[in-house]
Parts: sequence; C-alpha cells; structure tokens
Amino acid sequence: MAMDEVERRLREAYDKDFHFEDGHVLGSMCSKPEDIAVKYQALFAEANLGNRGLYPGTAELEEELIADISGLMHLKGGWGQVVGGGTEANITAMWIARNLSGKKKILAPESAHFSMKKAADLLGMELLEVRLDDDYRMDVDDLRRRIDKDTAVIMAVAGSTELGAVDPIKEVGEIADDVFFHVDAAFGGMVLPFLEELEMWSEEWDFRVESVDSISTDMHKMGMATVPSGILLLRNREYVNLISVESPYLTSKRNIGLAGTRPSGAVAGAYAVIKTLGREGYRKIVRSCMENTRYLVEKMGEIGLEPVIKPVMNVAAFRTDRAEEIRREMDRLGWKISTLRNPKAIRIIAMPYVTKEVINDFTEALSDALKSL
Ligand SMILES: Cc1ncc(COP(=O)(O)O)c(C=O)c1O
Repeated sequence: MAMDEVERRLREAYDKDFHFEDGHVLGSMCSKPEDIAVKYQALFAEANLGNRGLYPGTAELEEELIADISGLMHLKGGWGQVVGGGTEANITAMWIARNLSGKKKILAPESAHFSMKKAADLLGMELLEVRLDDDYRMDVDDLRRRIDKDTAVIMAVAGSTELGAVDPIKEVGEIADDVFFHVDAAFGGMVLPFLEELEMWSEEWDFRVESVDSISTDMHKMGMATVPSGILLLRNREYVNLISVESPYLTSKRNIGLAGTRPSGAVAGAYAVIKTLGREGYRKIVRSCMENTRYLVEKMGEIGLEPVIKPVMNVAAFRTDRAEEIRREMDRLGWKISTLRNPKAIRIIAMPYVTKEVINDFTEALSDALKSL
C-alpha cells in the first residue's frame, strides 16, 4: 500500500475508537497517559528488558522506578519487575506461590478480578472464592473457615475492579501468616498511598503488613502512564528463582517471569511520569478524582440512583435492576459505562478525564434516558 493510503487507513481506524479526551468513556480503569509518558515510550520503542544486557540504560530506569514504587508501598530491599499489567502480575504471583508451596488451592475474595481464573487454569490450581461481608470486603471469618493444609496462597484486593473496595488486608494478614499472601492493588496501588497522605483514608494495606509477600499495581491505571506497565513487587528476592529459567542465547543468563521479550518503552514512560508528577502531582490528581466522585454520587442521587457502597476510591457503582438496559441505551447515545453482576448496578470510574462537566452532561443524558426507558 502507498504510504498515504496506509496513513488514511490508520487514521480511519483511530477515528472509530473512543478516546478519553472526548469525555464519553466512564467505564475504563486506564489512564489517559501524560504526554511525557507517550513521548518517552516512543523513544524507547525498541527496548526489550527480556534481553537486559543490551539495554543497561533502560534497566537502570526500571530499577529506579521499582525503588520508587517500593518506597510508596513500604517495601525495603525486595524485588520488582515491570510486567504487562495486572493479569500478568496476578498470574506470576500465583506461579510463585504454587512453586514455593507445591500446593494448589488459591483463596481469593468473590470480588477478585477474572485474571485469577486464568491464573488457576494455567497453573493447574484450584480457585476457591471467599465470601464478601456487607461492605463487599473479603469476609475474614469465611476465610478462616476455608484455609487448610492444601492452601497455597491467599490473595486479597486493594481496590476491587467493580467497587473499588479494599479488603481488610491487616486482618487477612494475621490469618495468612504461614501462607503466601498476594495483594492485588492493580487499581488501588496508585490511589491508596495518596489517599493516606491526604488523610482521606487510613488502613495498613501494603508491605507494612508483615505477612504480605507480593503486591501488584498498574502504572497504566491510576499511574498516568502508558499501556502496558504493570508492576509486581516481591518482599523476598529469593523467590525470583521460582520463576526463572536459563536463557543461554541472550545477554542475561536467566530469564525471569512470564514474558520473554518485554515491551520496555512503557518502563521509560512510567519513569518519566512518576518523576515529573512526584507525590504532590499524584496527590492533586487523587484529590480531584475523589472530589469528582463525590460530585457524581450527589448528581446521581438527584436522579434517584444510590451507590452500592460509599466509594472508597474513584470507583462508584449505582444500584438499579435495569443496569443492562441502561448500559445499552447509554451506549446507543455514545456513553461508555459498565455494569456489575451482583448486585445489579451501573459502574463509573471517575478517572481524571471524567471532569465535573462530563458528569453534568452524563447525568443529564441519563436522566432523560431513564424517563424514556
Ligand atoms: C483489581 C484488578 N486486578 C487485575 C486487573 C487486570 O489488569 P490488566 O487488565 O492490566 O491485566 C484489573 C483490571 O481492571 C483489576 O481491576
């Protein structure tokens, strides 16, 4: 194809996509990445930390990025790697837990992300769902009843996909004393530290809880970085041996983790954004998202929709038996929202691009739609 024909085709496809800046995407957990992240992801497009010896500069950036995120999550002297996202991080954590224990049972809350099902399937493990309490957090009593000699791992969620609920990590940690304990903070990892600093929320949820062995967080969600930039942190760097193989023909003799070639431009992107925003920048973003979440709850209340839980973070779900019908109608009108299965609700993520103006336009459109449904 001629260059201008290829470009026309690419532009046409781009225009079919939804874009965060259009202000109609209310159901995505991904960032609209900061410009600096996009710029440096492009510069490092050929970097591949799977062949580390060729990219000593990118490797330094990854080490600094991991050190910064470790600091944020109160981890000293552990190990970390940039991975493709929350799914890869969860699978890798389960892989470690299985190889460490030789056991198969995963105990995870009913609210766990569907990536846990993939992890169990791939690793030949058994996923057992722990009930939730009235606040949609893992029920610690049910967990206590379910744990047994075959349990390989307990996982908890710090910021559930559907509601942004945070499991009681400290209490779970007391039960998980002798068992591998993974915390999935894919969304919450770049929210909770700043909510704490803003004194808007306070619970120990990270490596301050001594039995926490691993935490995952995504820079491409509330980290304001580009896709794909997930992070997996481990308290004990020895565990790396459980997920590495010899890689004789590469510049590094051991290949660690799931991916061979690692798309490492995102490392540079995440590095650029974290260093330019700093804690103050993230605090500002989180504060504004929480203000907008409160505003959203208020506006939804005015049209008769109440939240399932008082939002802990910038994820809000509103009860309605007609959730699927509403989603379809709003979709027809160009609004992208999502739904929950249980309880029936529509869900909105107040990402930074979901401004008060967007909320006004959306609730007005929703109010009209509800009258005609
Ligand atoms: C809590 C949680 N864990 C894991 C994931 C999976 O992340 P990814 O889509 O980056 O693989 C998500 C995605 O929304 C999530 O919310």
